[in-house]
Amino acid sequence: MSIQIGDYQLKSKVLLAPMAGTSDKPFRAICRAQGAALTTSEMVVIQNHLLNTNKSKHRLDFTGEPTPISIQIAGSEVEELVHSAQKALTFGANIIDINMGCPAKKVCNKAAGSALMQDESLVKDILTAVVNAVDIPVTLKMRTGWNITNKNAPTIAKIAEDTGIQMLSVHGRTREDKYTGMAEYDTIKAVKSRVNIPVIANGDITSAEKAKQVLDYTSADGVMVGRATQGNPWIIHEIDYHLKTGKKSDNVSLNIKKQIILDHISQIHQFYGEKLGTQLSRKHIFWYATHLNKENGQSFWKKVNKITDHKLQYQLLEEFLNS
Ligand SMILES: Cc1cc2nc3c(=O)[nH]c(=O)nc-3n(C[C@H](O)[C@H](O)[C@H](O)COP(=O)(O)O)c2cc1C
Repeated sequence: MSIQIGDYQLKSKVLLAPMAGTSDKPFRAICRAQGAALTTSEMVVIQNHLLNTNKSKHRLDFTGEPTPISIQIAGSEVEELVHSAQKALTFGANIIDINMGCPAKKVCNKAAGSALMQDESLVKDILTAVVNAVDIPVTLKMRTGWNITNKNAPTIAKIAEDTGIQMLSVHGRTREDKYTGMAEYDTIKAVKSRVNIPVIANGDITSAEKAKQVLDYTSADGVMVGRATQGNPWIIHEIDYHLKTGKKSDNVSLNIKKQIILDHISQIHQFYGEKLGTQLSRKHIFWYATHLNKENGQSFWKKVNKITDHKLQYQLLEEFLNS
């Protein structure tokens, strides 16, 4: 069954995870072209006095993106989150996603992200207020709990459903885990059995086969992929193809990968401008070079890492890909 969020029926069961510093506008476009049904933005705290900063301008640019546009908001107080949600509407949000999944202790010096999960009554207040403040669907991203003895995601899931949240994404780690160990899926399964809204499984989904196993095990409605897309966005197509056909994944050819990589870097240069675009491209180039595992990867990386001219960066990358 396809995932329904309000009026939006998602085209696949594969979602791109919100990742600050990665799931920006150029990367969202690349992942959507690979079949991502939803590409939630990097988290934002929308504060009026910061709206003119370069960072906010880039993070809040959704022009020309296909619907549904999901903007993720973060914060620690009811009013702050309500303000961000209402402002997000003016930037084109079709869905508001609330971040209770980040392990970072603080956003703007206060407990936020998954730290909020410790206070179930505050969670209820935040969710109720945000749902009532906007007339578009609100979704929630969370972890399994705050530590191994307090895995309260199923309780929060129920609170969320009761307050009108329309989809849940659950990362199979606790807040205390940060990114250590392996994600577990029992709690995600428990969440799914507790609510009737769509539940998306997240954490350590690194192949099409693993995505299928996690869906079968948890009965979740979809998967959300984060780090495995870095340098490897075509994994979204591979997962989508496997889930839709049941066949071993249709591996993307090297020629198509090359086109995607060059298109991505060119979009970064255009979106951020030549100087910032060249800087921000570096991590993606590193991830792509690592993923392609070419013999000359190390020497290429040493050379390209120092380049400050966007045209030269693109040219060296093209030469490397064709070598
Ligand atoms: C660099 C980075 C940035 C992230 N930023 C966010 C964020 O802005 N909002 C959020 O809810 N989660 C954020 N996360 C968590 C991811 O959405 C995801 O839950 C986590 O990486 C586990 O999924 P994965 O194993 O597929 O990467 C971030 C993760 C990484 C690695």
